[in-house]
Amino acid sequence: MERMGSKETLCRTRTILCFLLLFCVSCKCSASEFEITQVASLGVDASSHLARKIPDTLFGIFFEEINHAGAGGIWAELVSNRGFEAGGPHTPSNIEPWSIIGDDSSIFVGTDRTSCFRRNKVALRMEVLCDNCPAVGVGIYNPGFWGMNIEDGKTYNLVMHAKSPEMIEMTVSLTSSDGLRVLASAAIRVPGGSNWIKLDQKLVAQGTDRTSRLQITAKTKGVVWLDQVSLMPSDTYKGHGFRTELISMLLDLKPRFLRFPGGCFVEGSWLRNAFRWRDSIGPWEERPGHYGDVWNYWTDDGLGYYEFLQLSEDLGAAPVWVFNNGISHHDEVDTTAIAPFVKDILDSLEFARGSAESTWGSVRAAMGHPEPFPVKYVAIGNEDCGKENYRGNYLKFYNAIREAYPDIQMISNCDGSSGPLDHPADLYDFHVYTGSRALFSMKNTFDNTSRSGPKAFVSEYAVTGNDAGRGSLLASLAEAAFLTGLEKNSDVVHMASYAPLFINDNDRTWNPDAIVFNSWQQYGTPSYWMQKFFRESSGATIHPITISSSYSGSLAASVITWHDDENSFLRVKVVNFGPDAVSLTFSATGLQGSINALGSTATVLTSGSVMDENSFANPNKVSHRSLLAFRSNASQ
Ligand code: AHR
Repeated sequence: MERMGSKETLCRTRTILCFLLLFCVSCKCSASEFEITQVASLGVDASSHLARKIPDTLFGIFFEEINHAGAGGIWAELVSNRGFEAGGPHTPSNIEPWSIIGDDSSIFVGTDRTSCFRRNKVALRMEVLCDNCPAVGVGIYNPGFWGMNIEDGKTYNLVMHAKSPEMIEMTVSLTSSDGLRVLASAAIRVPGGSNWIKLDQKLVAQGTDRTSRLQITAKTKGVVWLDQVSLMPSDTYKGHGFRTELISMLLDLKPRFLRFPGGCFVEGSWLRNAFRWRDSIGPWEERPGHYGDVWNYWTDDGLGYYEFLQLSEDLGAAPVWVFNNGISHHDEVDTTAIAPFVKDILDSLEFARGSAESTWGSVRAAMGHPEPFPVKYVAIGNEDCGKENYRGNYLKFYNAIREAYPDIQMISNCDGSSGPLDHPADLYDFHVYTGSRALFSMKNTFDNTSRSGPKAFVSEYAVTGNDAGRGSLLASLAEAAFLTGLEKNSDVVHMASYAPLFINDNDRTWNPDAIVFNSWQQYGTPSYWMQKFFRESSGATIHPITISSSYSGSLAASVITWHDDENSFLRVKVVNFGPDAVSLTFSATGLQGSINALGSTATVLTSGSVMDENSFANPNKVSHRSLLAFRSNASQ
């Protein structure tokens, strides 16, 4: 492989084989503008007796509610703090990001605890004081998450709950951020009475504005209570509430599992703020929401436990439910008192897997999914191995789940890569965030791991620090090298996922990430594109390789075969992590077919500088390129 415009180059070739014919191939990737100073030959022995199947689950994704990945991210809800609960249960409370339209003489807005919803009692009370109100009315507006993306011709579904002692006419509208440009508007009548009513209104946008807001206004004196105000675009993925374009980026990775919902998000800084599955299910209006005190933002929990299971199904990915084991960053439940937490998790599993007639399965069925969700993996906590009560609590969860669901694979937080665990587990979690050189070297990490015992789940890996920038080519090269090592060791490494997956550009809490988005745009960092090189690996066959070169310390490679309904493919992935251009010769023995030379392709991930990144302005600066100078001497 020859250098393609940078100090480091990743080259991959894919060769279509004609099924069951004799095979022989050699290829050379070349780019004439570079001076080639290194040579290497990569050989693969594709003999079946040396081949090994890669687990079906090897590469997946890890979704954490971090960086507004969910709220203001893949969850398409446009209203932030839709139930007015984010200011806390004590009233009067802060209603941010809601704001008031009108001055003190025309409107009085506050919160009280008169909501009809049992678990989220805070409601907004709005008293219109003006006789001669301004022409635009007075009321409240919500800017969503750094502005709502409202697009011309699209329909938005507004739902809100209201109560007013006297009939009151209101206007709901989508406007520009200053309220001056109206994109959609409708009159809504709240009938007088003592009961709350649910109001539905479709709003069709006549114009596009990426930073819009939702306004609820009135022009006549009166009092109205509002609660649980939702605005959803009508074009969510499969109607399931997910932002379609972000989901299609996930589908492109062909993830075999979805680990959720954290990460530290699961633990909480304090237990009282940890994710609670029970509070995140059922009708959205009845969910209390919670403040995620590790990543420091409020979530209405529209994206709850049920939605994560639905997302797994929509992606064709096995759900991996990471649950809190009674341990947060700052407090722990003693093992003698953990029983109710264990019961809580057994209930969560019944919710996912129980029949539609079971206590919790019936709740799932009522939400629209009578068929069980196939939860086969659970992680008992996140990064808690060193905590005082971890082992005690772990065993309580482990034993109870094993008894109730013998097929569920349980994941320990303790690292078993260099020695046996002191407790039973099916898999153990392995997290690594480090510099590029260190991660490149870690491609051999699992070479000496015991071949018996629990399997590794590398559930979080990434290059971080200076090498990573905001997602650099350099980082992705080291990560790719690391993944070739995981493929080779996939007899002991059964699952792996990059972290974090998403970042809203307006909340850059954790850097770098795989997918960057704002209200209307998205792009993959080089680490995202890198993962695409591995999307056919799960369930494929890996073959032993040899690299002959004085430069082999800077190279990493793997060779797999896989097939779709029509063809078999030989996929060669090569990472050049060093500064020199390399002329690479590739040869294969032991294949049971011949090459379809016309189908051969070479794809490169490279750029002018190793620190190059993608951006909204240049989303494909570092992305897949076909290598035109690829030469194949394949026999037909
Ligand atoms: O991926 C970001 C964080 O890194 C996760 O929440 C945590 O598990 C790890 O420390």
